[in-house]
Amino acid sequence: MRAFDGRPVSREQIQKIAEDIRMAPSWKNSQTGRIYAAYSPEYVEEVRKALPEFNQRSTEKAPAFLVSTFKKGIAGFAADGTPTNELGDGWGAYDLGLQNAYLILSASEQGLDTLIMGCRDADALRKLFSIPAEEEIVAVIALGYRAGEPVMRPRKPAEELLQIR
Ligand SMILES: Cc1cc2nc3c(=O)[nH]c(=O)nc-3n(C[C@H](O)[C@H](O)[C@H](O)COP(=O)(O)O)c2cc1C
Repeated sequence: MRAFDGRPVSREQIQKIAEDIRMAPSWKNSQTGRIYAAYSPEYVEEVRKALPEFNQRSTEKAPAFLVSTFKKGIAGFAADGTPTNELGDGWGAYDLGLQNAYLILSASEQGLDTLIMGCRDADALRKLFSIPAEEEIVAVIALGYRAGEPVMRPRKPAEELLQIR
């Protein structure tokens, strides 16, 4: 969703999202995804400043932002710190993506819309929330109520995504 109507979300709605994302599967149940929620107007404004102009425009009236991170070196790694296969921390990003899929569905179930943003200033966000160096900052997700109907972007046909042999 790239247009929000400015209506506030509640703390309870954000807490419900946190309850729902707990159910996402993860590598050896390592649960390395984390969310830093910007809820107060001051934090919301600071997160917005950490976005490029086009994302600022899309989220002008978004009442909250969810900054998602994952703890590095755990998902996809053995206890002694060696990567289990070639993907390494790709598995942490994979798990966070799954968790964020749960997040957007939880939001949707509560009548809320989201915009996932990969274009953001990670250094500014790290400073703002004092995010430790062990965590990789990934997507910022705007949360709020829609203004108008979103445009459905075209999708590739299923045959292009799937091979059955
Ligand atoms: C990892 C990821 C990063 C994205 N980053 C941005 C972004 O920075 N700005 C933006 O406007 N949309 C961003 N999007 C949204 C996609 O562009 C959007 O989901 C895609 O075009 C499909 O459109 P739809 O979800 O509206 O159907 C991102 C989506 C994902 C999953």
